[in-house]
Amino acid sequence: MERRFRLGSLYYGDARQLIQKLPDGCVNLILTDPPYGLGTDEYDDGDLLFELEPELWRVAASDAWLVFYWSTKLLPRAFELRRFKYVWLLVCLLQNSPTRTPIGGAHYQAVLVFKKGEPKLNMRMSDIIYSTDLFKPVKDPQFKCTASIGSLIQTFSKPGDLVLDPFAGYGSVPLMCELLGRRWIAFEIDPLKALEAVKFISSNLRSCRLPDFSGGWSGAASLKT
Ligand SMILES: C[S@@+](CC[C@H](N)C(=O)[O-])C[C@H]1O[C@@H](n2cnc3c(N)ncnc32)[C@H](O)[C@@H]1O
Repeated sequence: MERRFRLGSLYYGDARQLIQKLPDGCVNLILTDPPYGLGTDEYDDGDLLFELEPELWRVAASDAWLVFYWSTKLLPRAFELRRFKYVWLLVCLLQNSPTRTPIGGAHYQAVLVFKKGEPKLNMRMSDIIYSTDLFKPVKDPQFKCTASIGSLIQTFSKPGDLVLDPFAGYGSVPLMCELLGRRWIAFEIDPLKALEAVKFISSNLRSCRLPDFSGGWSGAASLKT
């Protein structure tokens, strides 16, 4: 199942199958929040990012970024990636009340930056970002705030680039890609979340006046094109 928007499509299904339909080297930025394996729900398989790495590598352009939120508790696991090279750790400061950690309360979320080849930054950013919401947030701890996603998209891609989010959740990455003029492809396996994502993206797009990004490239990104 596919739901098309102006610059991209959300596919309901398993990223492991869906990604196979993407051509080699087409993605400029993989920006995602993968399952960590902390037992939050039935789809929380912490091996998935690593299982998917060969396909992520295949679809990534020769110079591309892989940027992903990750659990501080499981930080060492992130370095099990075999092909993408580690670049930096960003800290996303949380606004809401802290969750418990072995040493007190968590006030930030880790965001890891990896690369394939030598991608260029579109703009520079601080390695501390703020989790402000530009839109009414979805009430689920898994939801990632739109302002931090927007900063990451603006730093690690340029207008017209193709952004892939294989684990889209409620759709913050697709929404911010629409607003910032990036083409995008996103996958989500949980049908209820995919439905919520469509609502979240559509309703917030309706409430904004969008600039016209359609001139520079040919239409929306889709697995069929
Ligand atoms: C940490 S959550 C992402 C939350 C998202 N950042 C947001 O703001 O809503 C990880 C997501 O990956 C999805 N997922 C898990 N396994 C998947 C798979 N095989 N294919 C596609 N999506 C999957 C889960 O259903 C979940 O929504």
